[in-house]
Amino acid sequence: MIRAYTITSGKGGTGKTIVTANLGVALAQHGRETCVVDTDIGLANLGLVLGLSEAPVTLNDVLAGEAPILDAIYEGPYGLRVVPGGLSLEGFRNVDPERLIDVVRDLTDRCDYLLLDAPAGIGPDAVVTLTVADEVLLVVNPEIASIVDAVKVRVLAETIGGTVGWAILNRATPEKNDRIRQRVERALGVSIIGSIPEDPCVREASAARMPVVVRSPASKSSKAFRRIAASLAGIPIEENPEEVQERFVERLARVLFRRET
Ligand SMILES: Nc1ncnc2c1ncn2[C@@H]1O[C@H](COP(=O)(O)OP(=O)(O)O)[C@@H](O)[C@H]1O
Ligand SMILES: [Mg+2]
Repeated sequence: MIRAYTITSGKGGTGKTIVTANLGVALAQHGRETCVVDTDIGLANLGLVLGLSEAPVTLNDVLAGEAPILDAIYEGPYGLRVVPGGLSLEGFRNVDPERLIDVVRDLTDRCDYLLLDAPAGIGPDAVVTLTVADEVLLVVNPEIASIVDAVKVRVLAETIGGTVGWAILNRATPEKNDRIRQRVERALGVSIIGSIPEDPCVREASAARMPVVVRSPASKSSKAFRRIAASLAGIPIEENPEEVQERFVERLARVLFRRET
C-alpha cells in the first residue's frame, strides 16, 4: 500500500503547496490520519497556507539535528498533522537533507498518509525528496514549460530509483480538459489521477491563510481535491446527485463545443 507521497514539479509555482495542503485536509476529512511536511526548506510556506501561526520548532531544526520530530508536529484543520518549514534563512545552513530519510520513516509509522511538499527543480534538496517516499506525484500546469520540466523530474526520479505514481493537472481549463489531459499524459508518460480547475476560490483561500477545501468546500477545486484524495486512499467516491448532474452538463458542453470546432 502506498502511504508516503512526495508532491513535486519541475517548475516552481505549479501549485505543489496548495495541492499538499488541500489533499492533506481532504484525506483527514475522509478520516485518514494524515501528516503533511514542508520539505521546501528554502521557500517554506505550507504552514502559512494551513493557517499556522509562527512555529517555534520546524523541520529545519529537526534536519539540523537540534530537535526531535515530535516537537515539530502541529495540529492543522480536521486533525491534520503539519510539520512546517522554517520561515527564516537562519539555521538553514546547518540543515542536512539526508536526515529526511529518518524523518519520513518515523512519520510513516505514525500516520496513514504522509505528504511531502517538495522544492521545485533538480537541486540537491529536491533530489533527496524524490526517493524518500513510496511514490512521487507530479503537479503539472497545462503549459509547455511546466510539462517539459516535469518530464525532466520524472526521468531524474526514475534514474535515481524513485517511482513516479501519478500526475495531477492543476489550473486546468475545464472546457479543454479531455484534450489537454491526453496530451499531457502522452508527453509525460504518466497517468493523471485528477485535474484541478483554475479557481479564484483557491487564491482567495490562500489570502485568508486557509485551504480552499475548508474555506469554500462547495467550490469546483474543493470537489476535485476531495475526488483525488478519495482515489489515492481507495475510498469510493460518494456520488452526490448534484455533482453527477454538474459533471454530466460539463461533459455535454464539451461534446457540443468540440463539434463546433
Ligand atoms: N487551481 C488553482 N487556481 C487558482 N490559483 C491557483 C491554483 N493552484 C495554485 N494557485 C495559485 O498559484 C500560486 C502558486 O501556488 P503554490 O502552491 O504556492 O505553488 P508551488 O508550491 O508549486 O510553488 C498561489 O498563489 C496559488 O494561490
Ligand atoms: Mg510551494
